[in-house]
Amino acid sequence: MSDFTTPFWGYFVGIVAMVGIVWCLWLLYTQRRWLGRAPANQPADTGHVWDGDLTELNNPVPRWWTVMYLLMCVFAVGYLVVFPGLGHYAGTLGYTSADDVRKQQAAQETATRPLYARYEAMPVPEIARDTRALEIGQRLFLNNCAQCHGSDAKGAPGFPNLTDGDWLYGGSPETILQTITKGRHGVMPAWQGVIDARTASDIADYVRSLSGLGVDRSRIFNGKDAYGTYCVACHGVDAKGNQALGAPNLTDDVWLYGSSQRTIEATILNGRDSRMPAQEGILTPAQIRILTAWVWRQSNWNAPEGGTAATGSAGGPGDARPGGAAAAPGATSAAEPHPGPAAASSGAGDAARTLASARP
Ligand code: HEC
Ligand code: HEC
Repeated sequence: MSDFTTPFWGYFVGIVAMVGIVWCLWLLYTQRRWLGRAPANQPADTGHVWDGDLTELNNPVPRWWTVMYLLMCVFAVGYLVVFPGLGHYAGTLGYTSADDVRKQQAAQETATRPLYARYEAMPVPEIARDTRALEIGQRLFLNNCAQCHGSDAKGAPGFPNLTDGDWLYGGSPETILQTITKGRHGVMPAWQGVIDARTASDIADYVRSLSGLGVDRSRIFNGKDAYGTYCVACHGVDAKGNQALGAPNLTDDVWLYGSSQRTIEATILNGRDSRMPAQEGILTPAQIRILTAWVWRQSNWNAPEGGTAATGSAGGPGDARPGGAAAAPGATSAAEPHPGPAAASSGAGDAARTLASARP
């Protein structure tokens, strides 16, 4: 009923309100000269004189004003009996503004239910062609997702671009729905303690070479060798990643954290750990469906009727990959090296198990 953090403030508010009303009544009482007597022809003089002949009269307060003042005091007392204004006292009506909000929300939900009902059974690609649904999706995205993925859904370092047709987990409507509903937890184990800085640098050179970035060619051979030992378990022999683990494709020059040598070294040595929060308790299934359609649409603008141009294969205008890698090269590479939990003794097998147990 009351949101005060300590009982003190409840009493404080109640006492201040009551003392206020009593004080007003007392003030009226001390100014009661008009009761009883009609004003004299010659009003009383306060006896204060300025500039020789300027005097101050002491007229009684007008009757209409006093009556109004009294009525306001009576109104205040009545109000405080009926509504919650006296600290912890809830008022005889039991009204609370929080209840008011809840009722309005319920009414809003009832009013919008028919609107959402249309989309509950509709296939996602079909929703993605519905202008009304896309408007709702846009608004839901701005309210619930933009703080991480950006208002244009193009992401930021550590937060994937959702418009580029390049997916960590997969871009089919079912996978996106699953991602939004249940959330995701991507873990790249830290290799500090297993891989020395020199070797990490060699691997980074090799990884960069896969995307055709400028590298020290003399180190690629060593790097490739180490990659084969430590990285293939998750990123694959061809380094094209593994959507079941959320392990990114390392050959497409699309980067979650940045493409600089230092950033990749930091990823290898310190690991990465990122979470997409599950939305199932926050949004209704229909809202999640509409959001899925909106997100899917961002990389499937040219989806044909019946739309099956789903998954991760790049294509269409989304392939331009605006933002992505260029966002902030090296932005996260300054992080202090720290031995991650999986650091000390884990080989790739251990790491994969760590990952599996960390996954919801
Ligand atoms: C607190 C930040 C945060 C919020 C809020 C958030 N996300 Fe995410 N999202 C992430 C992170 C981080 C990842 C990457 C997870 C990983 O690397 O395992 C991600 C991944 C995703 C993916 C998978 C992308 C891929 O390449 O497979 C989708 C789809 C997605 N988010 C959609 C949404 C939608 C829709 C919302 C709004 C309901 C949302 N996200 C809200 C942080 C967030
Ligand atoms: C246990 C599985 C696993 C192993 C082993 C692993 N990675 Fe990863 N790696 C991941 C996951 C999962 C991510 C995504 C992390 C995230 O979502 O934040 C990732 C992210 C990365 C990134 C960031 C890519 C980007 O787009 O910014 C690089 C670079 C990388 N790994 C390289 C390596 C290298 C090099 C090795 C070998 C030394 C390696 N990984 C070993 C799972 C693994």
